Amino acid sequence: MKNLTIVGAQWGDEGKGKIVDHLCNKFDVVLRFQGGHNAGHTIIIGKEKFILSILPSGLIRNKLSIIGSSVVIDPVHFLKEIDLLRKKKIKISKKNLKIANNASILLPFHSIIDQIREQKLSKKKIGTTGRGIGPCYEDKVARRGLKIYDLEDIDSLRVRLKNLVNFHNIFLKSLSKKRISFNETFKLLKSIRKKILPFSIDVSEFINSKYFFKKKFLFEGAQGLMLDIDHGTFPFVTSSNTIPAIAAASIGIKPSKIGHILGVVKAYTTRVGEGPFPTEIKSNLGLELAKKGREFGSVTGRPRRCGWFDAVQCKKAINIAGINSIALTKIDVLDKFKKIKICYEYKIGKKIIKFMPNSNKMLNNIKPRYLILDGWCANTTGIKNKKMLPQKAQKFIKVIENILNIPINFLSNGPDRNDIINLKKIT
Ligand code: GDP
Ligand code: IMO
Ligand code: MG
Repeated sequence: MKNLTIVGAQWGDEGKGKIVDHLCNKFDVVLRFQGGHNAGHTIIIGKEKFILSILPSGLIRNKLSIIGSSVVIDPVHFLKEIDLLRKKKIKISKKNLKIANNASILLPFHSIIDQIREQKLSKKKIGTTGRGIGPCYEDKVARRGLKIYDLEDIDSLRVRLKNLVNFHNIFLKSLSKKRISFNETFKLLKSIRKKILPFSIDVSEFINSKYFFKKKFLFEGAQGLMLDIDHGTFPFVTSSNTIPAIAAASIGIKPSKIGHILGVVKAYTTRVGEGPFPTEIKSNLGLELAKKGREFGSVTGRPRRCGWFDAVQCKKAINIAGINSIALTKIDVLDKFKKIKICYEYKIGKKIIKFMPNSNKMLNNIKPRYLILDGWCANTTGIKNKKMLPQKAQKFIKVIENILNIPINFLSNGPDRNDIINLKKIT
């Protein structure tokens, strides 16, 4: 198999963690390339549940795991997550975990700013995870944020942090009584720098070395393609590019290394937070879907909004990401539904459109047009072979494959690591 990049093709929580876990044994390195601890990637192995937010999912199978430069790292959370995993007997050391020394540092005040903005500017609410992702990326792009390598030199750390804190306190004044304490933040960074620095390397230098010439890479995306800062449902998006094109940029390798692009897609659609969602089900049926799919955020515990499968949206994801094939997840959640809908085109006013527009005004006026299929009303979890699936479930899969015009390689039919059917080889 060539290198592989795994991305979520909807609004996140498609089951990326599970698919990365399923495939990573075939690879030498797992690389996380964007986002921060706003992600929540779940892997369930029997009674054990792992939720990874900042760490690459490959660690669960003891793969060399690397965090790239476009990731924003909260060092406190990073250490906490390592501790949590170690308590669950996952081995983590500087041998199997490396972070880019030019990745950005997310500080405690970034989440304070994120939360204050969400509360005070409630009319412009995005429904963020409150973890400071937006403010941290803003500091990076404004060239005032801190990088992991800033932890190496206490004197320059002091100066850079002082500038950063002063900047934010000017703006905080107009929103809140809260002020950021330079002393507290500096003390915190001094106390943890020696725990962080052993993991820090020049990732590009490392991965371009001769040793890796023939090694296989798996790139793990976070969030979903519709949350991409440029191509998503702006402004209701996250603050990073979630498209696979960014994977090579983040790691500092040639773009051809990202290999095959596998999009993870739920058999229906969910979204957490605000923003347009054309196929959202606002009736009790939506709640039923949420209950059956246990659709509560793995990071914030918020209930996820639920809706039908949206092929128009998925086609956009396929285009912006260059998706080559798909892993279809959570098909078992539809097991008891008598009728199942698939959106195949949109209507806006009197106009039929076959693509997902960018403008919010248009997105908010979409009337989805649905194919209505008979549900299979039978259990699919535990089935190991596609041919053993109910005929109507097979038809549902075929319809999705035909509308999207893309192969489906994997079918996930339950939350456990073993609930997965390999349908077709990745070619
Ligand atoms: P990610 O962020 O894309 O990795 O996805 P999350 O872990 O946030 O959310 C996916 C949720 O669905 C997790 O609770 C998984 O354990 C669960 N899950 C994954 N695949 C399946 C599946 O095929 N069926 C069911 N019922 N649950 C699944
Ligand atoms: P994984 O990797 C689902 C959403 C938030 C909010 C918007 C902006 O588990 O799929 P942010 O905190 O990033 O500034 O919030 O993005 N969001 C996610 N939704 N899954 C995620 O990650 C998400 N990460 C961010 O709910 O709507
Ligand atoms: Mg998630």
